[in-house]
Amino acid sequence: MTIKEQTKRAQNIAKAILVGVEIRGSRPQFSVEDSLDELALLAQTAGVEVFGRVTQHLHKIDPSTFVGTGKLEEIAALVEELGAEMVIFDDELSPRHQREIEKTLGEDVQVLDRSALILDIFAQHAHTREGALQVELAQYEYRLPRLTRQWTHLARQAGGGAARGGKGGVGLRGPGETQLEADRREIGRRIARLKKELEGVRAHRQRHRQQRERAGIPTVALVGYTNAGKSTLLNALCDAEVYVADQLFATLDTTTRRVALPSGRVVLLSDTVGFIQKLPVSLVAAFRATLEEIAEADLLLHVVDSSHPRAWEQIEVVEDTLAELEASRIPKLLVLNKTDLGTCEVPPNYPQLGYRDVVCTSAVTGKGLAELREAIDWALSDTLETLTALIPYDQGEWLSSIYEQGVVESENHTAQGVEVTFRVPAKLAGQLRQQLAQISAPVRKK
Ligand code: GTP
Repeated sequence: MTIKEQTKRAQNIAKAILVGVEIRGSRPQFSVEDSLDELALLAQTAGVEVFGRVTQHLHKIDPSTFVGTGKLEEIAALVEELGAEMVIFDDELSPRHQREIEKTLGEDVQVLDRSALILDIFAQHAHTREGALQVELAQYEYRLPRLTRQWTHLARQAGGGAARGGKGGVGLRGPGETQLEADRREIGRRIARLKKELEGVRAHRQRHRQQRERAGIPTVALVGYTNAGKSTLLNALCDAEVYVADQLFATLDTTTRRVALPSGRVVLLSDTVGFIQKLPVSLVAAFRATLEEIAEADLLLHVVDSSHPRAWEQIEVVEDTLAELEASRIPKLLVLNKTDLGTCEVPPNYPQLGYRDVVCTSAVTGKGLAELREAIDWALSDTLETLTALIPYDQGEWLSSIYEQGVVESENHTAQGVEVTFRVPAKLAGQLRQQLAQISAPVRKK
């Protein structure tokens, strides 16, 4: 059950205190205050009301209690004073931290970290079967090593499992087993079951992907920080009806749409899950569909909320995440979005950052979208191969297919048929050459 569902049932909003630390000498992308502002937005998205903040400057994280013991006492006193029910740490807590902090704060106070909060939001926003299964699996994998007394009531704690009618793990104890051991065993079983179920769903999606690859249509993936405007841009570029909301991680499930470019070429444009700082890459990796869309894309559009005061830090976070996902080698464009809210400052060093071009857009007013389509066309044409074919007049369907998949450079009507010179994605060129050879049309690489 997600936090929102729990609080709705309890008829009140969970009250939380946020905790952030700054390690002396470290150079984080976000200051502790900026990072806590973002954590507060995440909490709000999850349905939690923030009542207070505690920060600490440390030389190093305490291996037992995360913050210093004195600070933890201070947090406990604040919890008491404000009547808070939840304490959310901005950094990932180890299972030991979780245990020690819970011991000090008592069992009525729920202790979460940023990852658990993001997982909770993911659970609220996953709409497809694959999305829901992925989040549930990620939640169990995250919780298994952290299972403490407080986590024993699976029916209350489990995400989609309980909601989907899964049986609680309580009461399933074997002989001589503690409740905790029984719960761990039960979670292990659920993880195995979910993995099996996911394999089935993924095999189905894989078949779709293969069909798409056979069709040879270039793929373009929208990537970027959460709330940058990726879904709005997808809608604006192709009149799609993708859910857009002013909240973090509104889109979890991959949506793919066909978009026609000025050259007449068609591409497949995909939306992907947003990135955020301190999001463990293992959580992003849980979204296999997103990963595949990114890893197999011919071009990435890195969408940035250029009106955000931390836009440049957000760009760095996305760059780091792409590097961790081994997607840095994919050609990319920088899309500075939301320019209706301010000016568009183009970073002069964008070629050094690996971008082929920068486009300033407003997905809301439509400004810059024509330039963006042109830029996508241009960036993709770099990765194209030029072919010439003679298409017999009775094989006209090949011409339409060439027009749809490639960029036609010239067309010449001869006695034997249409001699056409065109550019297609390299991954399609070899296959096309073979197919066209069979209709006795000599095809050669220029
Ligand atoms: P995640 O799903 O969190 O990854 O977000 P996203 O990047 O898909 O952002 P989304 O398209 O959901 O937009 C987030 C918010 O920004 C929504 O309220 C949009 O209406 C708003 N938005 C998107 N593009 C623009 C823009 O160009 N100008 C303005 N003013 N608002 C925009």
